[in-house]
Amino acid sequence: MKVAFGNDHAATALKREVMEYVKSLGHEVLNFGTDTEERCDYPVFGERVGRAVASGEADCGILICGTGVGISIAANKVKGVRAGVCSEATTARFIKEHNNANILAFGARIVGPDLAKDMVKAYLEAEFLGGRHQERIDMLSDIEAGSEKKVEKYGILL
Ligand code: RB5
Repeated sequence: MKVAFGNDHAATALKREVMEYVKSLGHEVLNFGTDTEERCDYPVFGERVGRAVASGEADCGILICGTGVGISIAANKVKGVRAGVCSEATTARFIKEHNNANILAFGARIVGPDLAKDMVKAYLEAEFLGGRHQERIDMLSDIEAGSEKKVEKYGILL
């Protein structure tokens, strides 16, 4: 798989280590920066990886900032992106199995390198289960498209 990486200054060292790990698992990596510890803005890198994943340039993405939250919010603004923030491997597996998340995000100030690698492995090895989960993802796409179609299924107009 082609795995796109992005991070801010809080996560440069962890990004390097995780990127090497992903290569060792046999994947290709695309590095969208940052590559220094100089202070920068996480939306830039979240958007870059989000666009790479949404366009198909990458199969999936890994985003790391201090908490994983800011950079995932940035990526989730790109149409077609489903980025999930995790801090343990079970959730990392479920975000692929149930949510078909195309980006895994986590925080360099929250998890250490071993846990980060466990999460990445669980995420990359997991497979989307489809079925009812696909219907829910279609509902997410409807929200993204501004449609009230699926919301009306429950007789509620939000
Ligand atoms: C940067 O200081 C920090 O705000 C950022 O890495 C991240 O935690 C934001 O969500």
